[in-house]
Amino acid sequence: MKKKLAFILLMFIIFFASAQNSAKLIINGNNPKTTISRNIYGHFSEHLGRCIYDGFWVNDSMNVPKKDRIRLDIVDALKKIKIPNLRWPGGCFADEYHWRDGIGVRNQRPTMINTNWGNVTEDNSFGTHEFLDLCSLLGCEPYITANVGSGTVEEMSKWVEYLNFDGLSPLTTLRKQNGRTQPWNVSFWGIGNESWGCGGHMTPEYYADQFRRYSTFAKNYPNARLKKIACGPNSDDYNWTEVIMKNIGTSMWGLSLHYYTIPGTWGKKGSATAFDENEYQATLKNCLKMDELITKHSSIMDKYDPDKKVALVVDEWGIWTNVEPGTNPAFLYQQNSMRDALVAATTLNIFNNHSDRVRVANLAQTINVLQSLILTQGNKILLTPTYYVFDLFKVHQDAKLLPIQISSPDYIVDNQKIPSVNVSASQDSTGIVHISLVNLDATKKINIKTALEGINWNTAEGQIITSSKFTDINTFDKPYKVIESVFKGAKKEGNYLIVEIPPLSVIVLELK
Ligand code: AHR
Repeated sequence: MKKKLAFILLMFIIFFASAQNSAKLIINGNNPKTTISRNIYGHFSEHLGRCIYDGFWVNDSMNVPKKDRIRLDIVDALKKIKIPNLRWPGGCFADEYHWRDGIGVRNQRPTMINTNWGNVTEDNSFGTHEFLDLCSLLGCEPYITANVGSGTVEEMSKWVEYLNFDGLSPLTTLRKQNGRTQPWNVSFWGIGNESWGCGGHMTPEYYADQFRRYSTFAKNYPNARLKKIACGPNSDDYNWTEVIMKNIGTSMWGLSLHYYTIPGTWGKKGSATAFDENEYQATLKNCLKMDELITKHSSIMDKYDPDKKVALVVDEWGIWTNVEPGTNPAFLYQQNSMRDALVAATTLNIFNNHSDRVRVANLAQTINVLQSLILTQGNKILLTPTYYVFDLFKVHQDAKLLPIQISSPDYIVDNQKIPSVNVSASQDSTGIVHISLVNLDATKKINIKTALEGINWNTAEGQIITSSKFTDINTFDKPYKVIESVFKGAKKEGNYLIVEIPPLSVIVLELK
């Protein structure tokens, strides 16, 4: 009798444990409607620290493959992940940048002080032509942020003319003298950056009027219809969204949103490399807040724009930690760990699942600043765990979103709960289905059983990014600690897809 009871208890424990470690997923492949814009996978490059200077743009003397002074090893790495767009010149820097200082003969360009980022001298050697040459090497769309804070309406209007007008004018003559005959037809334009903060400390009512002025004189030239992006809210400032939507509505193309994942607080952000499980989980909890922010801002937008004409443009996101010890605090140089990979993958899953409204996003910032894809040291480059996430997720670009329903076990640390698993799925133009699965739990593997409705498939192959510790990083000495590799833990059982996801992992599966 005792033996029988013990056996029942054991079965109960096994059942309970396995139930806790299992997730259920339904993917609906019937008649997908929303396209995941490739521009969700965009990046951001500000004149800040070593992102542009000593990042994209290096001295003539540096011994690396270059076109002009643009590093081609970096260009190749970003082309591999299909970078769709690049935002420039800021950030806060944009609202003190005067574009005319960055054109013409390089050694005659005026210098300025970069007051936002360490008061360093900006020599303006990287300006409009250099940025657009970079975008053309990358094969990506430029996204330019105009100066509203300390610039003028005329300055922005003339910048648009210089870039986009094909006819005869003093500015197009100047452009030609500076070596560019054809217009570039830049369509993404941010009208100011963080106008509620470093961009001028404006109220939303005042900014809405400014947007209308700047926007009126930023002209649509033939073949160059502008996608004007208004400065949107800081994180959960829902009043900002309400006022802007009410006053500008559908006369803007997009409304930006900035949200950074901070492990601790703005005053004490926390280290990029040394943190415990509580801090790890708290970081992911903060990262998951992106879903709530998008949901709530979108529902305000829906009131004024039920047809979802206005895009939500999350043009600054990512994890923001303390700088690496010994580096300039104004340069925002931080390492990048397995935790960052999980932040990136989780955020991209959130964007995919909200792609009816989120149509552009930009991780801050591509090289050597905040959550970078690439770190540099002299002529060496290092691909971060975040880089590999973008490599795996590129299959979602321009694919059709497949709606999902998920029930995930919780990942509990010290009574704090978050869902262990997050997912998104899409179908590309050839019919292949991709599923990106993330397990945030630091210790438990999760078995996930997926029903795929309306999808024909036979095989599931994939790639994984995982590591034994959430603090694992790639270094210049050991550059391949956290990278992508082949994943063999997916199988077909009847009509179900069964996947065992290891702890701390990002998987992208391809179903054919
Ligand atoms: O990405 C760093 C800074 O963060 C940007 O310049 C600014 O827009 C934001 O506050």
